[in-house]
Amino acid sequence: MADTAILEFEGKKIELPIVTGSEGEKALDISKLRANTGLITLDSGYMNTGACKSSITFLNGEEGILRYRGYPIDELAEKSTFLETAYLLIFGELPTSEQYADFKENITRHTMIHEDMRRFFDGFPKDAHPMAILSSAISVLSTFYQDTHDPQDEEAVRISIYRLIAKIPTIAAYAFKKSIGHPFVYPDNSLRYCSNFLHMMFSVPTEKYEVDPVLAKALDLLLILHADHEQNCSTSTMRIVGSSQANLFASTASGISALWGPLHGGANQAVIEMLRRIKDEGGDVSKFINMAKDKSSNFRLSGFGHRVYKNFDPRAKLIKKACDDVLEKTGKSNPLLDIAEEIEEIVLKDSYFVERKLYPNVDFYSGIIYSAIGIPVNMFTGMFTIGRLPGWIAQWTEMMKDPTLKIGRPRQVYTGENERHYVSMGER
Ligand code: CMC
Repeated sequence: MADTAILEFEGKKIELPIVTGSEGEKALDISKLRANTGLITLDSGYMNTGACKSSITFLNGEEGILRYRGYPIDELAEKSTFLETAYLLIFGELPTSEQYADFKENITRHTMIHEDMRRFFDGFPKDAHPMAILSSAISVLSTFYQDTHDPQDEEAVRISIYRLIAKIPTIAAYAFKKSIGHPFVYPDNSLRYCSNFLHMMFSVPTEKYEVDPVLAKALDLLLILHADHEQNCSTSTMRIVGSSQANLFASTASGISALWGPLHGGANQAVIEMLRRIKDEGGDVSKFINMAKDKSSNFRLSGFGHRVYKNFDPRAKLIKKACDDVLEKTGKSNPLLDIAEEIEEIVLKDSYFVERKLYPNVDFYSGIIYSAIGIPVNMFTGMFTIGRLPGWIAQWTEMMKDPTLKIGRPRQVYTGENERHYVSMGER
């Protein structure tokens, strides 16, 4: 197999090295392209652009494969826990029992947020979107831990990692409590990660609250499935912000902002809103499917399609199963699930979706599980944030250790005016 490709341009032949990944995928190394030819590449949406080498997550969209550090997602979903998966992503190997105990202890000991930060929540309007609160609050954390900003200081980064993973559920739960006017509930360090989150979300000082282990387990699974997805929009944002040597809190806040968008993390909220709309407008599923196919409408079927998965999203299969388990256990029937299943059945046979390889993605069923757990719709993307955090951290720390790291700075093809001269206002 050739290890170079030849580019012919203006009568010159330029050799471009081929880089091969551990799963055999090939990339053209164009790092010397501009220096040798004056050319840059143009790739809207980065559809063909590899921005880094990474050993964290392998994804094969054609075959529906997702592996964290080599481990298939379905094995981790069945056998691991979110915190163990977080350890695997960040440190590269499954932990020994001592390593895991130490990691859990460190996460557990950092769940509280500074009392002064509680007052920070007072400043938001009652209906503030949790993603806005989350990204601001994570940025604010950097003001409380100013001695840990150096991205090259391993110990500072390590403690920032513990703080972030430990505090993000507390911040998310406080954002929810603020929105419904309930008192904030302190973390309970005797509980596991997801149980503690449910306790902070749903307990009130006046009543005893028992965490339902089935719901805590379903939540843990959802977090595992969201924990990393290689160079997606929020991860790439996190990397590009971090490439300027911005601290881990600032970089994470930027990742949260990127995740908020409805084409990325906001899709799980958009799915439930779409299902509700279909129900409220009489339940005519085919009307909405036709609208999604109609190019004159801007409507898309939320929860379908993926930039990388063009066969099926392996996470969607696991989530569908968890969804059935949770609804069976809670005994709640869910008309939105019925609509979702009807959509899926029709779409999988419809030539418009089949030809474009549009399958249910991770967000299609996750919202139904969140609803069954009692999580309000505007918190769904916040749940995705808690899940994705270890992946962002793993990608950010991998980048920081890369000796070839350069500040991220794409180029452009300028299409604006050529030089012209200033005309004073009265003469325009
Ligand atoms: N409903 C109807 N048509 C669609 C949909 C959809 N959900 N998704 C893609 N298409 C059509 C699109 O109109 C285009 O048609 P044509 O070739 O005739 O112009 C074709 O399929 C290709 O779409 P694209 O927008 O070029 O594909 P993309 O890879 O740029 O976009 C996507 C991927 C996920 C943004 C898109 O499929 C979408 O908008 N889906 C709905 C939003 C959603 O569920 N997002 C969650 C993604 S999974 C969570 C995550 O990882 O962030």
